Amino acid sequence: MIKKAVIPAAGYGTRFLPITKALPKELLPIIDHPTIEYIVSEAIDAGITDILLIVSANKNAIIDYFDYNMELETILLSKNRHYEYGLVRNIAVGANIHYIRQREQLGLGHAVLQAETFVNGEPFAVLLGDDMYVGKDKPAIKQLVDVFEKVNASVLGTMEVELKNTSKYGICIPMENQKGPIIELKGVIEKPKVEEAPSRSAIGGRYILTPTIFEYLRNQPKGAGNEIQLTDAILRMMGKEKVYSYDIQGKRYDVGNKIDYIEAILDFGLQKEELKEELQKLINSKSK
Ligand code: G1P
Repeated sequence: MIKKAVIPAAGYGTRFLPITKALPKELLPIIDHPTIEYIVSEAIDAGITDILLIVSANKNAIIDYFDYNMELETILLSKNRHYEYGLVRNIAVGANIHYIRQREQLGLGHAVLQAETFVNGEPFAVLLGDDMYVGKDKPAIKQLVDVFEKVNASVLGTMEVELKNTSKYGICIPMENQKGPIIELKGVIEKPKVEEAPSRSAIGGRYILTPTIFEYLRNQPKGAGNEIQLTDAILRMMGKEKVYSYDIQGKRYDVGNKIDYIEAILDFGLQKEELKEELQKLINSKSK
């Protein structure tokens, strides 16, 4: 059973500057909850009990968000605001949240390497905060947990992308004659040039990894973008262990992309009882 998850949250958030100068991108709100809370909830809903957030300088607001706020809670209770008290108190219930600071931003592979002590030799989940999912039937990461239980090896959550977008992702190379939905891989390549893309199967920010990955992350040279890439370490690990991919079933939002972020706000707003009617009217009035 996968009980531990790692959520890297140490990036600069350059796509959302200038707001990310003062607000960690992981706290950008989908109306009234930050994006990272959805990622944490996804892990909790998949049965994960211990979550390590990899943070960096200027990210203390994330730690505050998942902490109790005694002063605010006391004030709300003294004013009989029980509903609001519940809102601020019941965040990330069901898991222990741990933190570590990545002292220099050397890439995703380097961020995940910071989790080695926490992971302590167990298979674990990785969830990237820019990718938000509304899973079909079950949470995105739970789908991979279930595949892991069948294959007992690392599993990359994937999605099919248009050829022109392959250069934005880690792209999978399947073994010959594989029939889905669980595909054994023979390679992965981080952000290939479009003309060199070996497939359109892109890594979608969800992974189940065996702890073997750390043997490779510890000495992983820099790759694409001059960063230590998780994808490159996964490729080297394939020399020792099998690695599989599985297409995640559900809707994905790349909340690092402004249009996807706005779409997430609209879709989540349309799910909220107190907003949906007026929001729908507003959308209709704009599309005239
Ligand atoms: C990272 C990974 C990449 C993956 C992507 C998914 O890239 O390195 O393999 O496909 O997340 O969102 P980033 O978007 O951080 O550059």
